[in-house]
Amino acid sequence: MKKTFLSAIICISCLSYSFAQTKTSLNLVPVPVQMKVNSGQFVINSNTQIVLTAQSQEMKNAVAVFNELLRKAAGYRLAVVNAPVSSNAIVCKINPAIGNAEGYKLSVKPNVITLEAQTPQGIFYGMQTLRQLLPAQIERPYLSNAAWTIPCVEIEDYPRFVHRGLMLDAGRHFQPKEFVLKFIDMLAYHKMNILHWHLTEDQGWRIEIKKYPKLQQISAFRNRTLKGRYTSPEKRQWDNTRYGGYYTQEDIKEVIAYAQKRFVNIIPEIEMPGHAVSALAAYPELSCTGGPFEVEGLWGVCDDIYCPKEETFTFLQNILSEVMDLFPSEYIHIGGDEAPKKRWERCAHCQALIKKEGLKDEHELQSWFIKRIEKFVESKGKHIIGWDEILEGGLAPNATVMSWRGEQGGIEAAKQNHNVIMTPNTYVYLDYYQANPKTEPLTIGGYLPLWKTYSFNPTPAALTPEEAKHILGVQGNIWTEYISTSEYLEYMAFPRGAAVAETGWSPNAKKNYTDFKARMIQQFKRYDGMNWNYCKAILTEEE
Ligand code: ACM
Ligand code: ZN
Repeated sequence: MKKTFLSAIICISCLSYSFAQTKTSLNLVPVPVQMKVNSGQFVINSNTQIVLTAQSQEMKNAVAVFNELLRKAAGYRLAVVNAPVSSNAIVCKINPAIGNAEGYKLSVKPNVITLEAQTPQGIFYGMQTLRQLLPAQIERPYLSNAAWTIPCVEIEDYPRFVHRGLMLDAGRHFQPKEFVLKFIDMLAYHKMNILHWHLTEDQGWRIEIKKYPKLQQISAFRNRTLKGRYTSPEKRQWDNTRYGGYYTQEDIKEVIAYAQKRFVNIIPEIEMPGHAVSALAAYPELSCTGGPFEVEGLWGVCDDIYCPKEETFTFLQNILSEVMDLFPSEYIHIGGDEAPKKRWERCAHCQALIKKEGLKDEHELQSWFIKRIEKFVESKGKHIIGWDEILEGGLAPNATVMSWRGEQGGIEAAKQNHNVIMTPNTYVYLDYYQANPKTEPLTIGGYLPLWKTYSFNPTPAALTPEEAKHILGVQGNIWTEYISTSEYLEYMAFPRGAAVAETGWSPNAKKNYTDFKARMIQQFKRYDGMNWNYCKAILTEEE
């Protein structure tokens, strides 16, 4: 009787121990494809070595973020060697037999950790998993005497989609370069590989273009900004402080290099033919009316857009050339959304062009415009991405469509055998409210709580399996009309950005909101360590 009682206690304490371990250390986001937790743990100490069987710069990059965190939190870096060490080591091996280029296989045993991947990028993601398996103190940039334990696990993991990202709107509000670097850290932490950088807007031009200095002098600054909520003209209030800024090409090179070390590709967006008033303020001759224009201080859609004149194409192609020289990305986003046709309807040049080219209407003229730009971009060995309006009037031959007005544009494009990135405002517009608008800071509107963003499946049921192969992935968009500070941007971006990351990485069958929410609540300790602001609404959310 006594013995049974004792073993029951032992048994319960074993259970609660393993439960506690599961709860405190295995809160991986995104959730891996396959994971088996074993007993025991690996303990990192200052003698632990990182073994790289291939010593390329990319392999060094793949372990550098992890090692730098350890330096800050534990006070030491691990030696990176290529000796055949087989104990007290994290052995990183390139293994061409790993099926997915971004996938990895991780085995944590008490004496050795083995991490295998087809590419350094896969090794990087395995290291991010190790990072999340360590105590949360690893994220704090000051010395801790935590025991640097990693539970024994066997993980096989790879992403569902090749495009997993967030879009940052630098146009409406400009984020300092240092913040962009922090944002890239956050993407990489969640195994996201794309930063879509929205660099030009009616309200500001944010990228230095050497050939057109007025884009820096004039287009990068506005004289006033709408204060508070969007209202009717007579009720509008203005902040008359001159506002603006831009990234120099040197800044951009630095950001790209930082992103490359974290296996994040940056897709720049240069908007056309609409959302271009800031450029027209400096070069009004590229409009239909000749202007004059001011860099916009009001949010919304402007009627003045580029006029498809030869000078406009010269201007845009010169800009795109500088952009393509800077960014290694295979894709360049050319916008294409929200371009009213009002000016084109009344412009003699536009109407003559429609006739000359045998076009049906202004939508076909926009399509003609985008096709011409596509031809130029393709001539440099790159491809265009455009918002779903580029479907109107006919898609450019190789264009990838970013579906934002719900999923319909994406469905149509995939049915036309075009690649698609899903970023519907019905799920992943991270500028929308995520909690009760009565108590939240002002946003543009909408309502997308975490569960709603998490519930998104990027593969529409309307597609056949063959058509569904065109869905490259998912992206959350952070438009910044109402997001003027970095703290507020962080708050809007996470934890919903983590839901986007899990949707992009983890198998649909593995997704479970209750489980995700529990993991996120544990992740918050890590966000705290990173000094990352985030919305805490799920802590009080009703089931
Ligand atoms: C968009 O939200 N106008 C792409
Ligand atoms: Zn015109």
